[in-house]
Amino acid sequence: MNYNKKSIEDIEVAGKRVLCRCDFNVPTKDGKITSDKRIVAALPTIQYLIDKGAKVILCSHMGKPKGEWKPELSLKVVADRLSELLGKTVIMAADVAGEDAKAKAAALQPGDVMLLENTRYIKGETKNDPELSKDLASMADIFVNDAFGTAHRAHSSTAGVADYLPAVSGYLVQKEVSIMGKALANPERPFVAILGGAKVSDKLNVINNLLEKVDTLIIGGGMAYTFLAAQGYTVGKSLVDSEKLDYCKEMMAKAEVKGVKLLLPVDTAVASSFPSPIDAEIAVQYVDCTAIPADQMGLDIGPKACAEFAGAAKAAKTVVWNGPMGVFENPTLAKGTIAVAQALADSDAVTIVGGGDSAAACEQLGFADQITHISTGGGASLEFLEGLELPGIACLQDK
Ligand code: 3PG
Repeated sequence: MNYNKKSIEDIEVAGKRVLCRCDFNVPTKDGKITSDKRIVAALPTIQYLIDKGAKVILCSHMGKPKGEWKPELSLKVVADRLSELLGKTVIMAADVAGEDAKAKAAALQPGDVMLLENTRYIKGETKNDPELSKDLASMADIFVNDAFGTAHRAHSSTAGVADYLPAVSGYLVQKEVSIMGKALANPERPFVAILGGAKVSDKLNVINNLLEKVDTLIIGGGMAYTFLAAQGYTVGKSLVDSEKLDYCKEMMAKAEVKGVKLLLPVDTAVASSFPSPIDAEIAVQYVDCTAIPADQMGLDIGPKACAEFAGAAKAAKTVVWNGPMGVFENPTLAKGTIAVAQALADSDAVTIVGGGDSAAACEQLGFADQITHISTGGGASLEFLEGLELPGIACLQDK
């Protein structure tokens, strides 16, 4: 895939109506935003458009309303927060591409900013319906995609609209693509990838693709037990994706052929059952992965694995991390994830955290400032690591 896309700096935006897709799919609780990270990440593009005198029409989805007008998923909270951050009123449209939005878009003056309602209030959005794409496009002269977190979706507002308007990237998409794209295409070596998460099946193509690129692949989290089982070890009651044992064997063989060092945890925290509720107090013991008792399950990597993984991360020049090392929602079982986050923070390497739970862990632990790049995409960054073409980027004009 060609990542060399035109950006907002390659097109004249002054006085133009610019439809800018952002990923404002922010977490909320009791009607309040609990993390405005994605809104803050969109500010450089929005501010640039304002400063250049564009008439800015922002759009985004929030949640999965599936074509229903669910008031709790209104983007009004985002407009309010954005107004505070920009220090100017963000005009809120009452609909997506309806009468109100169109009238407000037509009345915009240079430097004005408006926000459309949740694009997923319209059924056609997730079907990439050309009628909706045309309707959205009819309000603007230029399309800017700055929604990296939604770039893996081929929806009307993320990709379809580019069929009807000149389409370029915003700064966030540009930054995500250039940092992660460089790491994958031309990394400084040693290049180490650390993968975690519960299931092997969620990361099949990521493992396969990264084995083509890295010097060391570290596997932790729940999926490590399937790899250990594929090596012939008994893993007690640990999570094993039994349909993926052959796949794991294939990947281990591929690592050997490619000369990639594949590291699995040498020890693990075990308990007799999964914590319930997930953050309940739990008694664990640490055992070698070659000796997991039959009545115990592995729930985090152990101290020896933490030290080995951290050592590999510190010796690397490029590190990509995606997925927690254990049940990190539980303080007793978060030690492996914390150790990896700490190792990335301490490393002099280019460190990239591929969104989702590992990004949340770095932020909660206060390490975010010490990581080179934390992706704003969860699913999107995974698909990027898989080497897949992202429709929200593929649709943009090549340089
Ligand atoms: C995300 O939160 O990963 C993006 O906003 C995409 O959301 P979606 O999974 O609902 O498409």
